[in-house]
Amino acid sequence: MPSSRPTPPTGRPADEHHDEPTYAAGPGERHTPSRAGGGDDSGGVDWEMLRLRAVELMERAYAPYSHFPVGVAGLVDDGRVVSGCNVENAAYGVALCAECGMVSELHATGGGRLTAVYCVGADGLPLMACGRCRQLLWENGGPTCLVMTPEGVLPLSAVLPQAFGPDNLALVSPPV
Ligand code: THU
Repeated sequence: MPSSRPTPPTGRPADEHHDEPTYAAGPGERHTPSRAGGGDDSGGVDWEMLRLRAVELMERAYAPYSHFPVGVAGLVDDGRVVSGCNVENAAYGVALCAECGMVSELHATGGGRLTAVYCVGADGLPLMACGRCRQLLWENGGPTCLVMTPEGVLPLSAVLPQAFGPDNLALVSPPV
């Protein structure tokens, strides 16, 4: 057995951390939907802005065990942009998906509803959220939240059909 531990982080080499590009909307900044800048505006969303933000977060991932960095960016219904990256752990099952960080930022910065989400892997291409994270998106965006997929923009209802959600719980007891 090798005795050395993985050297975190592996999202990218540490000496690249100073070479940050500038993005349209950083943490806490508001985004106004616009067709300016050449972005794909499908659904009234500047998807290129979200993709660039997701790539930026992917480059900050802490993924020394899977070597699979993930970044995600989401548009909130008040124009905020929230984002996250995956954060792994020596206890493998404790790993946090990128979407977990994004949803935490959503609530930590004022709440609201996710209206559009773009998740990317190391290649910067659309990455489908895992099942657990689709459930997270459902809770915080609902069926109409738009998701960038390898097949284009789809509503969350198409990628998590017949979802279990807050409405199911309300059948038994009203939400508190
Ligand atoms: N991962 C995410 O961050 N989001 C997903 O939706 C899929 C999987 C991460 C978890 C783990 O750190 C790595 O990708 C490999 O599974």
